[in-house]
Amino acid sequence: MRIAGGCAPGGALLLAAALFAGGVAAAEDDLPDLGEQVERMASEVALELQRVCPPASPADQAAFDRCRRSLFGDSALRRSLAPRLLWGRRNQDAGALLKDTNLTQFAPDVFAGLYLALFMFSGEHSVEYVERERMYLIRLQSAFRNRLPPGQFPYPFWHDEAKWGVYQATNCILLWVNPKTARIVIGQFTERGELGSTVVATQPLSPKFDGNWMWMDKEGRIQPRVTLFDGLFRQDNPYLPKLEFTYRTLALRMRDAQCENCHMPNNPLPMRRLLIMHTPAHASGEIGRLMKAVREDRMPLDETGIEQPLEPALKRALLESGGAFEALVKAAKEWEAAQ
Ligand code: HEC
Repeated sequence: MRIAGGCAPGGALLLAAALFAGGVAAAEDDLPDLGEQVERMASEVALELQRVCPPASPADQAAFDRCRRSLFGDSALRRSLAPRLLWGRRNQDAGALLKDTNLTQFAPDVFAGLYLALFMFSGEHSVEYVERERMYLIRLQSAFRNRLPPGQFPYPFWHDEAKWGVYQATNCILLWVNPKTARIVIGQFTERGELGSTVVATQPLSPKFDGNWMWMDKEGRIQPRVTLFDGLFRQDNPYLPKLEFTYRTLALRMRDAQCENCHMPNNPLPMRRLLIMHTPAHASGEIGRLMKAVREDRMPLDETGIEQPLEPALKRALLESGGAFEALVKAAKEWEAAQ
């Protein structure tokens, strides 16, 4: 394991930039800039990540389990996330704005438990105000756990070689913070953290993608396990066994309704702000919006992007299976919260 310098310019907190930012943002909007709060949150989150997700072997399952359980629970990180956030690779074109970068939408628990936990953190970080985005940027030195079993990734990231390559070479996580709410609204991973150093030197792997986003393992269990909240919800959560079956019914209805033509990790359309619902965990984060969009006949769209109302019987079946899944997810989460 190699511990080296930060991924940020100087690794220091840039208080001067924060003060400067206050003036600019206030001209736009009467709400005060929360620069100091952002600084505090950044140190708290960086310390927490260092404590619960420290540098380890990229194959260390126990380290990963501890990290994801902590982040998925009542963590400083999770408390600092916006109610809906975006995640993706930093644009290869360093000059590109976030609004022109393809990103995927996530619910906070899915982001914290299934995505951010795949990284390890040294605690080294920096905060600055980025004028052109009008947001604070927290940089966190990090490395990716590329040697976990395939079912520990929310989907086979290696379906796209370039993206998998960046995941494996990541040395910095970027968290973008809204200056008015002090909440994290966008997360990005990059192999071009400014100092070019990395926390853990990972040997790249190149697994082959066989076209299946979900699959059965030798024991006949659905994979990826993480998308069934395996290791996130307690083993004795009484709603867990039903989750798989209830999701499968919903997935079949979504297939009938063509949702899979567009809402998949390979982003076939492509969408600037992708929404994915192809596993129980991903669907659990979006089920409220899914139900609303279908009820209001806003989804699905046809291939030209025009709303394409469903046959009444299919709409009913989709809403019924969606409603059952929504109720089950709610019950499972409430049971967890009560433990
Ligand atoms: C032809 C491609 C396409 C198909 C098929 C499709 N969608 Fe979408 N969907 C989009 C696009 C593009 C957006 C984002 C832009 C928008 O909101 O119009 C979107 C947005 C959404 C949103 C978020 C928007 C909101 O109002 O909350 C939900 C939820 C959604 N789709 C669900 C579904 C479901 C469920 C199905 C299947 C019944 C479906 N979509 C089928 C392309 C598609």
